[in-house]
Amino acid sequence: MIQSISVVGLGKLGASMLAGMASRGFDVIGVDIAESAVRAVNEGCAPVQETDLDKVLAAHRDKVRATTSHEEAVLGSDISFVIVPTPTDSRGAFELQYVRFAFERLGRALARKDGYHVVVLTSTVLPGATRHGLLPVLEAASGKECGKDFGLCYSPEFIALGSVIHDFLDPDFCLVGEFDRRSGDALEEVNRRICLREPVVRRMSIENAELAKIALNSYVTMKISFANTLADLCERIPGGDVDVVSDAIGSDSRIGRKYLTGGLGFAGPCFPRDNVALGFLCEQVGAKGNLLVANHDYNKSIASRITTKIAPHVEKGRTAAVLGLSYKPLSHVVEESQGVALALAMAESGMRVIGYDPLATDGARNAFRDKALVAESIDAALADAALVVVTTADARFRALKAEDFLGSKESVTIVDCWRCLDPSVADHPQVDYVPLGRCVDDALASGVLEAIWTN
Ligand SMILES: NC(=O)c1ccc[n+]([C@@H]2O[C@H](COP(=O)([O-])OP(=O)(O)OC[C@H]3O[C@@H](n4cnc5c(N)ncnc54)[C@H](O)[C@@H]3O)[C@@H](O)[C@H]2O)c1
Repeated sequence: MIQSISVVGLGKLGASMLAGMASRGFDVIGVDIAESAVRAVNEGCAPVQETDLDKVLAAHRDKVRATTSHEEAVLGSDISFVIVPTPTDSRGAFELQYVRFAFERLGRALARKDGYHVVVLTSTVLPGATRHGLLPVLEAASGKECGKDFGLCYSPEFIALGSVIHDFLDPDFCLVGEFDRRSGDALEEVNRRICLREPVVRRMSIENAELAKIALNSYVTMKISFANTLADLCERIPGGDVDVVSDAIGSDSRIGRKYLTGGLGFAGPCFPRDNVALGFLCEQVGAKGNLLVANHDYNKSIASRITTKIAPHVEKGRTAAVLGLSYKPLSHVVEESQGVALALAMAESGMRVIGYDPLATDGARNAFRDKALVAESIDAALADAALVVVTTADARFRALKAEDFLGSKESVTIVDCWRCLDPSVADHPQVDYVPLGRCVDDALASGVLEAIWTN
C-alpha cells in the first residue's frame, strides 16, 4: 500500500495538494526549486496564499517535509505528482520547459531507485505532450523503460483558486490518464484514499485525459459566454432580466444553473488560456475550432462593450471608481481580470480611474502602471467618483449603502455588473443605477422590438 507521496512544485495548486494529502494521513515530501517555498513548508507555513492552507499545514506538520532535491523526494516516496508551471507560449499552446526540467531530475533519481515508482503529471498540458514531449525525457534520464520499471499517469485537478483544498479533497470526479493498468491502479488507490467521499474515478488513455481537462474548462467558458450573451440581450428586451431567464433555463437538468449568471467575462489563470490552447489543438490536428476562437474573441470584447454602455453616464475628466480588481472575489490574482481590463478601457476613453480591491492592490498597481490609480480603501476610491463600477460580488461591496457611494456628492451612477448590491442602493433617488443584464429603458427597447414586426 502506498504511504509516501512526493509533490513536485509547491505553488498555488501543489502546496494545497501537499497539505490535503497530509491531512488524509499520507507522508508527503514537497519539492520546489524555490528555497523560500521549501523553507515555508518546513516551518509549517503556507508558501502561497490559499484558503485554509496555513491551518492545514500547521495541523499536519508531522506528516510533511520539503526539499529542493528531486532525488530525495523520489527515493523517499512511492509516487510523485508534478505540478509545475506550463505557461502559454506564443502559439497559444502550453510550454513544457518547466515540466521537462522536473522530469529530467525525476528521471535521474529514478536511475538510482530500485523499486517501482509512479510519476503523475498534474500540470495542464495538451494531448500528446505527456507521451511525446515528456515521457522520452524520463526514459532518457533514468535509462529505464516506462511500464516495466516505472509508471506514468496524467491526472489534472479541477479546482478553483480560493477553494483548492476543499475541491481537491471532495472532487466531482477523479480523472486518471494511464500509461498502463499498473500505473492507473496505483493512482486510483491513492485517489480513493485522498477523497473524503467515495469518488467517481474516470480511467482512460493519457491523451483522452489531456483532452478532457481542457475540454471541461473550455465548455464552462462557453456557458459563461452564453450567459453574457443573454445578459446583453436582456438589456435590449423590455422588462428583460437575465437572472429570471437564467433561473428558468438553469432549472432544466440538461443545462443547470452554475456559471450561468450573466455579467462579466471569464478570467483568471486557467479559463482564458485553456480555451485558446484547445483552439490551437484543433488547428494543428485539422479539426474545426471556430467555436473556441469565437468564444475567446467574444470574451475579450466584453470590457469595451461595457465601456461603451457606460460612456453616456460620464463626462470626460470626471472620476470613475472600479470596485473589484482581482479576477473573482476573495482572490489576489489579477490575471486576465475583467476589473483591470475595464479600468484600463475606461482610462483609455478619457476617464480618471481609481480602482480598489481588498486583496489585489499590488497586482493591480503593476497592471495599471500609470494609467489608473489604486486606492487603499473603499472610501478613498469612492470619494470623488461620479461613476462607480462594481466588478465582483465581494461581500464588502455588497454591504455598501447608497450613502457610502454618495458621500458628499449630489448624485452618483453605479454600474452593478452582477446585480449584487442591496436593492435600497438601486432605489435611492440620488443614485442612477445601471445593472448589467437588465433593461433600463423599456420604451426604447419596445420601440426596437416593435420595429422588427411592423416594418
Ligand atoms: N492554479 C490553478 O488554479 C490551477 C488549476 C488547475 C491546473 N493548474 C495547473 O497546475 C500547474 C501549476 O500551476 P500553479 O498555479 O500551481 O503554478 P505556480 O506558479 O503557482 O507554482 C508552480 C511551482 O512550481 C515550482 N517549480 C517550477 N519548476 C520546478 C521544478 N523543476 N521542480 C520543482 N518545482 C518547480 C515553482 O517554483 C512554483 O513554486 C500549471 O500547469 C497549471 O496550469 C493550475
